[in-house]
Amino acid sequence: MQSDKAVLMTRIILFTGKGGVGKTTIAAATALKSAELGNRTLVISTDPAHSLSDSFGVRLDPFPTKIAKNLEGMEVNVEYELEKHWSTIKEYLSLFFRSQGIEDVVAEELAIFPGFDELASLLHLLKFYKSGEYDAIVLDCAPTGETLRLLSVPEVAKWYMNRFFGIERKVLKIIKPIAEPLMDLPLPSDEVLDKIQELYTRMSELKNILESRDTSVRIVMNPEKMVIRESERAFTYLNLFGYRVDCVVVNKIFPEVAGDYFSEWLKIQREYLMEIREKFPIPVMKVEFKSTEVTGELLRDIAEEIYGSENPLKIFHEGKPMVIKKEDDKFVLKIKTPFVEKQNLKLFKRGEELVIVAGQWKRIIFLPQSLAIREPSSAKFNEGELKIIFR
Ligand SMILES: Nc1ncnc2c1ncn2[C@@H]1O[C@H](COP(=O)(O)OP(=O)(O)OP(=O)(O)O)[C@@H](O)[C@H]1O
Ligand SMILES: [Mg+2]
Repeated sequence: MQSDKAVLMTRIILFTGKGGVGKTTIAAATALKSAELGNRTLVISTDPAHSLSDSFGVRLDPFPTKIAKNLEGMEVNVEYELEKHWSTIKEYLSLFFRSQGIEDVVAEELAIFPGFDELASLLHLLKFYKSGEYDAIVLDCAPTGETLRLLSVPEVAKWYMNRFFGIERKVLKIIKPIAEPLMDLPLPSDEVLDKIQELYTRMSELKNILESRDTSVRIVMNPEKMVIRESERAFTYLNLFGYRVDCVVVNKIFPEVAGDYFSEWLKIQREYLMEIREKFPIPVMKVEFKSTEVTGELLRDIAEEIYGSENPLKIFHEGKPMVIKKEDDKFVLKIKTPFVEKQNLKLFKRGEELVIVAGQWKRIIFLPQSLAIREPSSAKFNEGELKIIFR
């Protein structure tokens, strides 16, 4: 059975990062290399501002389009999806809001389910994952903020659906004929209920897949202050949501030959690369700034720089680099450390960051809101893991 699973597995790799850092380029390079190694690969752009087509120099449709041997690509078209799949639920929601005395225009707005557009991309992902047609699905995501929103959709959607349609379906079916005339409220039709049920099931499936070992998130960044800042925030929240980040790709590093004019930049970038190592306890891949725009053949060079002789589908970091949990009234932050004793351990908060120093070892952790407002009260070691408690 074990071997069957290995054969059937579809690897999912999501690329995210701040605007303009090179997500599309790196996603395209990764997909191309994956395909050239013989993996049936699909690359999906979920960013409404598509540029995957430009990267490959091929026009892509809202469904899988052949790019090369073993390689297909698509750009999700949200309006098309919305009309096709969700009009039933949307109509009911408008009806519901209107029955509550909410004006037409507002009702229409409210009926746009939170994260509807992101949902469309995720449902594609689920569909192709389950189809077994691909060995790898590479996602070129929108900039960080939207990606985080995208990845919280399965959870949020489930919450929303529970709240909205919390009554058990069977019960609803029985009480509907009696209740509807008495209440000033249209109850959802069977068709709507079916849709909601289906969506709910799919969201649960998606969440399982996205949190599983098959899925990795890779953060693309540049060695620049603002970019690092946004990336560390993303890294923390991805960990918090339970996603696995298996490496970061630092793109647009100036080569040593850049010359005098760039000497200051070279120095700064070197410092930022050190900082990146302290903030991301996972493999850090590097890509040079190319002398021209990256398309076609240059994509191969980039893939070579990142992965060398490694398979791009490899899991570069196993497990979760950090875990944040609520235990009773305390918040607990757990991280893996190379040292095993608390000796010489220094721990302090610097703004929204927690700095941990032990001799030569240093780690900087961007704290999520819930922890940033608290103080670390104690630290414990257990099997190579540092557990920090916040009160
Ligand atoms: N290593 C590199 N060297 C030179 N140019 C690069 C490199 N990586 C990316 N570029 C160029 O930078 C521009 C932005 O890259 P890309 O579109 O991949 O970024 P993005 O993160 O997907 O942007 P967006 O947030 O707009 O989707 C493109 O013109 C691309 O060709
Ligand atoms: Mg892009």
